[in-house]
Amino acid sequence: MFETAAATDRPDYSLLTQQVSSILTGETALMTNAAQFSALVYHSLSDLNWAGFYLCTPAAKAGGEFSHDLLLGPFQGKVACVRIPFGRGVCGTTASQRSTILVPDVHAFPGHIACDSASNSEIVIPLIKDGKLYGVFDIDSPKLNRFTAEDQQGLEAMVAAFMQATDFSQISGA
Ligand code: SME
Repeated sequence: MFETAAATDRPDYSLLTQQVSSILTGETALMTNAAQFSALVYHSLSDLNWAGFYLCTPAAKAGGEFSHDLLLGPFQGKVACVRIPFGRGVCGTTASQRSTILVPDVHAFPGHIACDSASNSEIVIPLIKDGKLYGVFDIDSPKLNRFTAEDQQGLEAMVAAFMQATDFSQISGA
């Protein structure tokens, strides 16, 4: 069985990226791979209180600016908000701008959605494959300033390995 190393604030991201590819080898199912990926991240980085996916789904309100919303997917942590419209909160803003957002202090981010009052900093990475956005991967920490530029680079590499291994044909991308 695969053993996850102890959680640390300076993880070896190149090793973790290799682990993503090896854990997901031979399996392309989105929910399976997303569940495994959330568990790997949650148990490899210290000081996290939530790590998980919001995946694109057709918008609940038709005729708006965006054709999709974000719907809660596999995650580790406490019960979270289920549906987030594009452009709302850190996750929805990441989806609408299609680039990573690193938030040192969530209380200073206009429109931040507080699913867990313990969260103080956050990083959200878009899931993009072949030019389409399929959702975001969100990580929360109770520590202010938890995520550095090095974390961003390392986590983006892990997400890229997840995207490569996973088949998104079952959901509609934006
Ligand atoms: N804080 C996020 C909402 C998702 S939860 O943190 C799990 C946001 O502002 O979009």
